[in-house]
Amino acid sequence: MRASPTYPCNCSLLLLLFLFYLETGATNVHDQSCSPGDLRALYAFARSLDRGIRDWPAANSTRCCGWPGVRCALFSLSAVRVVGLDLSGKGLEGVLSPSLAGLDKLTFLNLSSNSFRGSIPPELLRLKLLEVLDLRNNHLSGELPPGIGNLSNLSRLVVSSNGFTGNIPDVFHDLRKLEVLSAKSNGFVGRLPTSLSSCSMLTVLDLWNNSLGGRIDLDFRRFDRLTTLNIGWNKLQGLIPEALSSCRALKILNLSRNNLSGQVPEKLCRLGSISFLNLDNNSLSNISQALGVLQECHDLRVLDLSWNFQGEEMPTTGIRGFQSLQAMGIVNCALTGLIPSWLRNCKELSALNLSWNCLTGEIPPWLGRFDHLFLLDLANNSHYGEIPASLAELKSLMSGIPPHDGDDSSIEFPFYGWSSNQQILDGLKYKHYTDFPPAVNLSYNRLTGSILKEFGNLRYLHQLDLSRNNLSGSIPEELSSMVNLESVAFNHLRGLIPIGGQFSTFPCSSFEGNPGLYSDSLPFCEPVKATYQKEGDVDEDKIAFIGLPFAIGVASGFVFIVYVSMCCWQL
Ligand SMILES: *[C@@H]1O[C@H](CO)[C@@H](O)[C@H](O)[C@H]1NC(C)=O
Ligand SMILES: *[C@@H]1O[C@H](CO)[C@@H](O)[C@H](O)[C@H]1NC(C)=O
Ligand SMILES: *[C@@H]1O[C@H](CO)[C@@H](O)[C@H](O)[C@H]1NC(C)=O
Ligand SMILES: *[C@@H]1O[C@H](CO)[C@@H](O)[C@H](O)[C@H]1NC(C)=O
Ligand SMILES: *[C@@H]1O[C@H](CO)[C@@H](O)[C@H](O)[C@H]1NC(C)=O
Ligand SMILES: *[C@@H]1O[C@H](CO)[C@@H](O)[C@H](O)[C@H]1NC(C)=O
Repeated sequence: MRASPTYPCNCSLLLLLFLFYLETGATNVHDQSCSPGDLRALYAFARSLDRGIRDWPAANSTRCCGWPGVRCALFSLSAVRVVGLDLSGKGLEGVLSPSLAGLDKLTFLNLSSNSFRGSIPPELLRLKLLEVLDLRNNHLSGELPPGIGNLSNLSRLVVSSNGFTGNIPDVFHDLRKLEVLSAKSNGFVGRLPTSLSSCSMLTVLDLWNNSLGGRIDLDFRRFDRLTTLNIGWNKLQGLIPEALSSCRALKILNLSRNNLSGQVPEKLCRLGSISFLNLDNNSLSNISQALGVLQECHDLRVLDLSWNFQGEEMPTTGIRGFQSLQAMGIVNCALTGLIPSWLRNCKELSALNLSWNCLTGEIPPWLGRFDHLFLLDLANNSHYGEIPASLAELKSLMSGIPPHDGDDSSIEFPFYGWSSNQQILDGLKYKHYTDFPPAVNLSYNRLTGSILKEFGNLRYLHQLDLSRNNLSGSIPEELSSMVNLESVAFNHLRGLIPIGGQFSTFPCSSFEGNPGLYSDSLPFCEPVKATYQKEGDVDEDKIAFIGLPFAIGVASGFVFIVYVSMCCWQL
């Protein structure tokens, strides 16, 4: 049971209501007129745009407080001033006019999601009262002017998804009220500005997808309100700073795709609030240490350690398990050893991706006994033996995926590096791991035996990939009843393709590479056998693409290949 949320006095809400009161008061009493200076600035701003602002009066209205996106407040009995300008997503195009500086009582400026170009005019930084400056999602370029450091009232500075370049100026000493800094997806270079350490109110620091280098040398002891630190997809080097453990409020930590080395520091086990941790694609070592430390973070739901620990052995002892973990990826680490039994203790597991390693042994039957598991990817390993029957009894795939208790789906958990290039793109597409299609992928192993007919009971499964194994027998009739089934390709199975159901909707390519398969009902699929000759070529392409230790499965086998893919099938 979770405690029901409490509703403390929300001061910003009160402030908003107050402003609203002033605003409406102003519109009544003062006939919506704003000061001549503000009016001039607004008209000059609109005129500077390529095509003006469509829903503003083109002529000489003085009632600017009533214009869309303009907020006014009453300052003294007769002075109504513009305090906010929210023109987000209005299709505006042009450069940022310096005339905006004329709105000298402005506290809120949101020009996000338009097509502004050029650089930030220095005049804009005279707006000393600005609390919110949101320019995200435009085509702005040039450097971020150092005058930003003079906006000491700023609480939210958002310049993400533009074309800014150069260093992030190290001018944050006086921005004591800064709560959100987002500069992601730009071309910033240089180091993390150390003056950010003065911003002890910071809750979100998002510098993802830039080219920042050097060490992570912020003074994390000051950041006791920080909930999100996203500095992934940069060129940061050195160690993961131990001082990160001071950020007790931290929920989301993304350090993925940098060049960090060394071990996961022992002290990170103190991150009691952390829910999402992505260390994917660095050069970290000692996976035993990493797992041993991180299992102490009791709120950890999503953990991605992929593309690290190259060639180490998967620890099977000394790890207890992760009590809250819902999604775990340890992809592409060339790990040796077995699927570890401590995973059994991760009762909440919904998505497990151990693909592209060198794990061996049989697939343990207990993998089929998780209540929530809907995504299991063991592809590109060296597992042998038969497919355990329990995998065809996965609860969430038979009867629907049950929600986790207290799931906070408002937190985005994007996945970037699960497996192949295509999946990296997929990972960007999916904002939350729960958005991935339910899938079981056992391809590129050395599994033997037949395809379980019980897979046909997994009504909620969208993708089943058993290709490139040593499976034999026929395609069970039962699979044709799977409503989400879409295609079967590269089979080397024998016998008649089951008639009807989803199979009858497959394109011919779905049956390629099955010398022993034939069909009465699919007369157009005659070339099924012909493609067998090309098998070798196909394999070589795949090896080149994968470039990883799975030549074994391909070289030895190529014999029995089952590819069953089921796709979201909306009825
Ligand atoms: C508004 O503009 C019109 C011409 O477009 C002009 O005739 C009128 O005097 C102007 N009114 C004010 C208040 O400036
Ligand atoms: C700016 O407006 C957009 C669209 O309404 C909104 O999503 C965003 O949160 C606003 N920015 C700030 C800092 O309030
Ligand atoms: C900051 O403001 C001061 C005066 O208030 C001014 O002298 C200084 O040049 C400004 N700094 C920048 C970088 O614009
Ligand atoms: C990363 O940032 C660059 C530069 O702004 C942008 O072009 C690119 O689309 C971003 N990448 C992603 C995956 O968002
Ligand atoms: C990663 O960092 C090491 C030093 O720790 C350096 O030698 C190497 O060139 C860096 N790699 C990249 C791709 O920047
Ligand atoms: C990994 O870390 C553990 C401490 O948790 C240490 O005992 C062990 O020597 C480390 N292994 C390597 C290879 O550095």
